Amino acid sequence: MSAHTIAIIGAGSVGSTIAHTLLLRRVVGDLILVDIDDKLCRAQVDDLSDGTSLANVRIRQGTLADACRAEITIITAGAKQRPGDTRLDLIDRNFKVLKSVLDGMKPLREDAVLLLVANPVDVLTAMAQKISGLPRNQVLGSGTLLDSMRLTRVLAHRLKIADRSVQATVIGEHGDSQCVAWSATTVAGQHLFEVLPLGAAERAEIAESTRNKAGAIIAAKGFTSFGVAAATTTLCESIIFDQRQVLPVSHWHDEYQCCLSLPAVLGRNGVVDTVPFQLEGEERTALEGSAKSIRDVMATCAQ
Ligand code: 2OP
Repeated sequence: MSAHTIAIIGAGSVGSTIAHTLLLRRVVGDLILVDIDDKLCRAQVDDLSDGTSLANVRIRQGTLADACRAEITIITAGAKQRPGDTRLDLIDRNFKVLKSVLDGMKPLREDAVLLLVANPVDVLTAMAQKISGLPRNQVLGSGTLLDSMRLTRVLAHRLKIADRSVQATVIGEHGDSQCVAWSATTVAGQHLFEVLPLGAAERAEIAESTRNKAGAIIAAKGFTSFGVAAATTTLCESIIFDQRQVLPVSHWHDEYQCCLSLPAVLGRNGVVDTVPFQLEGEERTALEGSAKSIRDVMATCAQ
């Protein structure tokens, strides 16, 4: 079992599912759950403890002051999307929650990594970088890793091959302005369209179903949790074990003056490097449009 400490702020459906996934995948040895709802948090800790009773892990309820000592703090606290909401609609409520969480965690451990999961994740990641005062590379958002996993699954299904044999990336906002990097989508080193010719209409349909998948799940069950937990756990693995996986995560870009997702190298200090990612004309334009949507919402946030 890992000896590493991870704190999760927000013990609702997303936070608790991330906790469970981290435990099942043996990423964490000391897990701290924090929530303003004391009774809920205690119950989640008790239930998670039952679920891992034979594993040598410590699961405890904590405060923001405890969380600031963790190697990674995952922030899920905030309002969830209601059916019909876009992620950007959540900004006012979730910015206030984020500010009070980060103020309560100060002083932060200098080498802490903050992993934002609450939405709108790109805007909140940029705000967390500013409020926390940590180096920007140590504050990142789960971003479009989940969208990339959703896209990969659809393509793998069409090709009748394993998901891990497809390299597909969604970039930009984790939200309605996201874009598929078709030009960088490959299977066994071949461009996707060599093995799966897709016309413009099919590409648009796949991109749209990827973009709308969360909304469809939320309309039916009220929230998403398993997918985001799987994505977040993969990010924590790469950070905690310094694996240097290249994954699409939300991080700061001077060029776009906001946080958005492009592939980055994830290691012990968060985003430890970037990789060149060439985009063709239309994709570049779509990414610039996505950056503008994010910047427009950032401009509305009280500073
Ligand atoms: C998701 O994409 C709602 O952002 C959440 O599942």
